[in-house]
Amino acid sequence: MVSARCQGQGADRRTGQAGIGTGGHRIEAGLTNSRTAQVWARTDLAAGEKAMGTDAASKQQRDAFLDGLMAKMTLAEKLGQINLVTSNVPVGDDILADIRAGKVGGVLGGLDKISFGVNGPDGLRPAQEAAVNQSRLGIPLLLAFDVIHGHQSVFPIPLALSCTWDMERVRATARFAAREASASGLNWVFSPMVDIGRDPRWGRIAEGAGEDPFLGCDIAQAMVKGLQGDDLSAPDSVMACVKHFVGYGAPEAGRDYNNADMSPTRLHDVYLPPFKAAVEAGAASAMMSFSAVNGMPSHADEELLGAILGDVLKVSDFDGIPELIAHGLGDEAGRIDESDPLQTLSERSLRAGVQMDMMGKGFITRLEKALAEGRVSQAQIDGACRAVLEAKYKLGLFADPFARFDAERAKRDVLAPEYAVAARETAAESCVLLKNDGVLPLSKKLARIAVIGPLADDQKNITGPWAFQGDPAHAVSVLDGIRAAVGAGVKVRHARGANITENRRMVELLNFAGPKVDIDPRPPAEMMAQAVALAQDSDVVVAVLGEAAEMSGEAASRLDIGIPDNQRDLLKALVATGKPVVLVLMHGRPLTLPWENDHVPAILATWFGGHQAGHAIADLLFGDKVPSGKLTTSWPHHVGQVPIPYDRATTGRPGNPKEDPGKYTTRCYLDGSSEPLFPFGFGLSYTSFAYGAIVADKTELQGDEVLTVTVPVTNAGRVSGQEIVQLYLTDPVASRVRPAKQLRGYVKLPLQPGETKTARFTLTTADLEFHDGQLNRIWEPGRFVIGVGPNSRDLQSLQIHWSR
Ligand code: BGC
Repeated sequence: MVSARCQGQGADRRTGQAGIGTGGHRIEAGLTNSRTAQVWARTDLAAGEKAMGTDAASKQQRDAFLDGLMAKMTLAEKLGQINLVTSNVPVGDDILADIRAGKVGGVLGGLDKISFGVNGPDGLRPAQEAAVNQSRLGIPLLLAFDVIHGHQSVFPIPLALSCTWDMERVRATARFAAREASASGLNWVFSPMVDIGRDPRWGRIAEGAGEDPFLGCDIAQAMVKGLQGDDLSAPDSVMACVKHFVGYGAPEAGRDYNNADMSPTRLHDVYLPPFKAAVEAGAASAMMSFSAVNGMPSHADEELLGAILGDVLKVSDFDGIPELIAHGLGDEAGRIDESDPLQTLSERSLRAGVQMDMMGKGFITRLEKALAEGRVSQAQIDGACRAVLEAKYKLGLFADPFARFDAERAKRDVLAPEYAVAARETAAESCVLLKNDGVLPLSKKLARIAVIGPLADDQKNITGPWAFQGDPAHAVSVLDGIRAAVGAGVKVRHARGANITENRRMVELLNFAGPKVDIDPRPPAEMMAQAVALAQDSDVVVAVLGEAAEMSGEAASRLDIGIPDNQRDLLKALVATGKPVVLVLMHGRPLTLPWENDHVPAILATWFGGHQAGHAIADLLFGDKVPSGKLTTSWPHHVGQVPIPYDRATTGRPGNPKEDPGKYTTRCYLDGSSEPLFPFGFGLSYTSFAYGAIVADKTELQGDEVLTVTVPVTNAGRVSGQEIVQLYLTDPVASRVRPAKQLRGYVKLPLQPGETKTARFTLTTADLEFHDGQLNRIWEPGRFVIGVGPNSRDLQSLQIHWSR
């Protein structure tokens, strides 16, 4: 899995304002992204073992404690432990009564009219008090929440964060989120989502790290390390929950919750590796996926659960077990209790290895009967209960159930100023400059700037989906960010110009969990005319367009992944004024931008950048920061091209990418290109980077030898910048069809103008490995092509031979 290594030489020591290490810091320390991940995996197993009570002495102690506790428990109390509920905050009376009665093992921090509420350390305290002080055995609760990209302080959405290609930054932002979440009493977060996402129609692509498993493994490990810290029992650590196991990111037709069908080798080469990486890094829990892969919902997938997830606590997704009924699943022999299908399916999930039931209520209500009638065993119930108790033990909850309810720490750790600094820097580093015909950076001496668009003056959408605890009032809009950057001497004026969408049904769905999208009562033509007049009276137009937050995330699949038509009409009108237009995109997925790319001189992809996004975007627009983000997904021209991952396998009729595709080739669509508009790994800067020749230290290798590949990269422009240099591997002849290329290393080099540094990558045979038809991990000797460059398309290459 995570195997390639790369390192840069002579990187400078700048670590940035926020104290999050940049690529330069990382390289200087001799650790690169990929190697860092490997080291984490190892150190976690050593240092982390003690923290998690898995070294021999603490394991013995823990086992003795848990044996003693379990010996005291009734069957009903054991079933209570494997029951995860959710409620309003403050926790409602009915739930409190169940907690006192020992019928609850954990609480998902309240569903309050669909918007999640966890209101500071006191919101959840009554629940923990009821469990510890008023239940017979005083077993503390797991207190869970979806902490996806920050908590009260909101960072860029995960897909944006991945575009930094900076694992230290990923780890650090997760650590901040853990400190903040744990200061609200939470001890368990339903993150990271490590589903590989290759279909931009699927809204949850926003929550993951993009399309590539190699990068996905590194990010999964950095997230786990950040959330769980060095010591899971520390009051500022939270248990990570790697989700959604597995294949949830491959739904047919990009429709959320839809099933996936794929070859077992694809499952093992692409979708499973980030889960394995997260488990290796110490992730203590995992969540099942709603969908079925190859006909088997994960909630019932005994084989995969056992093989991959090992000892981690396995929890169902929200209502995932009852939803097996609609899947049409029965027991292992295809039978169902027609009078009570939940009976059959709760039993089956437990037998398959699911250990905690989120909101399904089947474990708590049906397993006693199942045990009495011999369809589940005492050992299966005990195993699940013990997994929950073990997680609580590792979290230190038995030692001090209230350690995470510390009002003094909350004062320091909630909304700490250092998070805001880091959020601003991270948001800037996650933006990707897609096009720049010389318009950017803008001068702060312009007299009149028009900031136009429905997302320009917005604080509700800029934080993105899954930001329930982020107060929109703390968000810096793009308009405010620009105003703060240029000061009072520049006339910065705003016109809305259009609604986010004119599709009323869509607006209803977007506002399902609370009002985020409002409709301006003025007729669209009037709004547009006002914006055009403003543009005409300005020196430059910054058009802030794209998606509402809820157009991505859960249950937010789209058929058309472009900017909504009414916003594109506005953009056309703005471009027609002849004024220079900078398109600032807000979005949770790759967008299709063929018209925009042909007609708009500058395009900046900013995703949903969180609370500080407005400042971060202004930093980039005016050149206080130089764009360095690179895409972690391929961006199609047209939705009809998807899925279009860069590593798709070659065919028998590939066609030559340098020529017109012609008929009878895989490259040929009769009505358009089959190439992505922006390839994986792509992103521009305000400076330019000149690549020297790529060099391999050997071209004939044998067995365990290590290959070192280097390339000098020079900052050939006038401003300092950072370049993410990428290495791809091709296995041109193999026993089965292989991907056209695969990312096997990357390094982020900070470079001053005129400065040259050498990006260095090392590869071993682990980088050549793949799964054969019997799912053995193998490598095959022969010729390999190594490509190095600024993105997955523009590579210089060389060939090597590797023999046994
Ligand atoms: C989502 C999970 C989430 C859970 C609890 C489900 O609908 O699929 O990702 O963790 O809800 O909020």
